Amino acid sequence: MDKVLSGMRPTGRLHIGHYYGALKNWIELQDKYQCFYFVADWHALTTNYENPEDIIENRKQLVLDWLSVGLDPEKCTMFVQSHNIYHAELSLLLSMITPVPWLERCPTYKEIRNEQSNKDLSNLGFLSYPVIQTADIIMYSAKYVPVGEDQLPHIEISREIVRRFHNMYSCEVFEEPKGLLTEVPKLPGLDGRKMSKSYGNAILLSEDLSEVETKLKRMKTDTNRQRLSDPGDPALCPVFDYHKVLSTEQERAEITEGCTKASMGCMDCKKILIKHMFALLEPIQERRNKLESEIDNIDDFLKPMQEKANLEAASMMEKVRKALKI
Ligand code: TRP
Ligand code: SF4
Repeated sequence: MDKVLSGMRPTGRLHIGHYYGALKNWIELQDKYQCFYFVADWHALTTNYENPEDIIENRKQLVLDWLSVGLDPEKCTMFVQSHNIYHAELSLLLSMITPVPWLERCPTYKEIRNEQSNKDLSNLGFLSYPVIQTADIIMYSAKYVPVGEDQLPHIEISREIVRRFHNMYSCEVFEEPKGLLTEVPKLPGLDGRKMSKSYGNAILLSEDLSEVETKLKRMKTDTNRQRLSDPGDPALCPVFDYHKVLSTEQERAEITEGCTKASMGCMDCKKILIKHMFALLEPIQERRNKLESEIDNIDDFLKPMQEKANLEAASMMEKVRKALKI
């Protein structure tokens, strides 16, 4: 069975943008491929090296979020990057053959440095982000890497590193990974901007439902609709982006009619959304509560999966060392 691998940085609790943008797809892939999903805690350190203690707490929250949406230890292998020291070894070896200009050219490198100009990101670890990521992927001979569009340049670097390694050491130890781009619905934040926890405009998967309701009721709508008698345009309304994902076709038709003819109020429109949002989140949160009471140590919980991953990594590193003759 072909292998799929993906990871997330433990930066805090996940929101519904993560669910529709990645997790929903990860869950489906579990049934079709041999999947490896890992907590990229070293990657979180590349930008957040000043606060390692946050990362440890977030690791647990991330895995709980994964399990609560339906990632299943019976079907996939979940593990923590930093508990598999081979990732560091492979990453170091790959760094020997990776030209620095490849990394400096990487668009995400420039973008994030500009975006987070308040942080000192002149550290070597941040520059080498795609190298560490390459080690993560090729360690398991993953054929497909489900990622967002922003990550495609990283996958391209991974492919180049693999080719360079094979040429340099006249071997064929790795699989050249491919990005698996998924159709991601547009799900803006509550204010219409990109959903992000740092903007405070996200709905978290583990958020209290009454809080979710309050947030949705306050959510920005088509600004042309000040009062009920003003017609609106669903195409200009972030609430409708949510309906596209959560509501039925018939409901969307009724909303479109009611909005453009000013016969349905925004509150009634939002009530339909709230109903669907609750139906999505309730079972997720039920599972999360149960897991929280059952699992007191996340590392113990992950142990069998971690061991499986580490064993695979160990055998890959044997081949790599052999290729390098060290
Ligand atoms: N860079 C990814 C992100 O920020 C996380 C990640 C690290 C990753 N290593 C990976 C994703 C390997 C896929 C494969 O989302
Ligand atoms: Fe948006 Fe619905 Fe109000 Fe139309 S009725 S502006 S789609 S919230």
